[in-house]
Amino acid sequence: MTFAAGNWSPLASLPGMDDSEFERWASLLEKRTGVVVPLKRKAFLVTSVRGRMRETGHADFEAYFRDLQKVPEGAIEWTTLVDRLTVHETHFFRHPPSFALIARDWLPLLATDPARTALHAWSVGCSSGEEAYTLAMVLDRHLAERGGKSYFGVTATDVSLPALAVGRAGLYPRQKMDEIPDEYRNRYCEPLDADSFRIRESLRKRVGFAQFNLLDAVGASMKRLDLIFCQNVLIYFARERRRDLLATLANLLKPGGLLVLGPGEVTQFAHAQLARVDNRNVLAFRRTS
Ligand SMILES: C[S@@+](CC[C@H](N)C(=O)[O-])C[C@H]1O[C@@H](n2cnc3c(N)ncnc32)[C@H](O)[C@@H]1O
Repeated sequence: MTFAAGNWSPLASLPGMDDSEFERWASLLEKRTGVVVPLKRKAFLVTSVRGRMRETGHADFEAYFRDLQKVPEGAIEWTTLVDRLTVHETHFFRHPPSFALIARDWLPLLATDPARTALHAWSVGCSSGEEAYTLAMVLDRHLAERGGKSYFGVTATDVSLPALAVGRAGLYPRQKMDEIPDEYRNRYCEPLDADSFRIRESLRKRVGFAQFNLLDAVGASMKRLDLIFCQNVLIYFARERRRDLLATLANLLKPGGLLVLGPGEVTQFAHAQLARVDNRNVLAFRRTS
């Protein structure tokens, strides 16, 4: 069997998935991305895998699983399947207190360091880009208000290629403009037609999108960053994996750098070089040395 994307099979019904088959698919996803699908979300996994099996003309899970292991066609197919098996919900200014903390508390602190002439931020698990563009809007506006140090860049990464393509285009449904506060909307968004708007080019230029599996960050030699924003990604991961990844993210911060997580995303996390930011609405840590 070969993969033929978009090739609808006439197969009206596909077999059910027993719990051991489910375990096999769930552990493949966990091993490759870190994302855990608990048994109570079996229906989601089954629907997603079956949907893709219909499109590629596979009649049974076993054959599809086997084809996924093939090199290189299995790897290509995986890039489509992984998009179906992961949750991409996202919004502009999704958690406003986190962005307020960056603008009001963290940027003024950085301004006191004359050696810092450029700011590099990373949106980890950026989905379709709303989080990365929000960071860019906040950094652009507040750095400009402070004058001087105005260079910044945001790297936005995800495992999902379709999500990254949306982010790269910077084109969104018009109703999403309502998520963006007025003071940012006019400055950074241009309405295209009745149904859509686009992030202005001047801001799009500041955000680079790339496919990157967060699991590959462990042990990778990467440039150190000023700001790492990782919300609503680790919640899908097993607890032990979250701890390892957080230690990795902490090591990728420059001294004075900020790690922002989703509220409640981890509990009892401590790291020798990170100090918890004193803000009960935001889960953030500042690198001390
Ligand atoms: C729910 S979205 C969160 C988007 C955004 N961070 C936010 O808070 O609005 C989770 C994203 O994490 C991505 N993701 C899951 N596992 C990943 C991994 N191992 N490496 C990189 N991205 C991953 C998914 O593809 C998805 O787009």
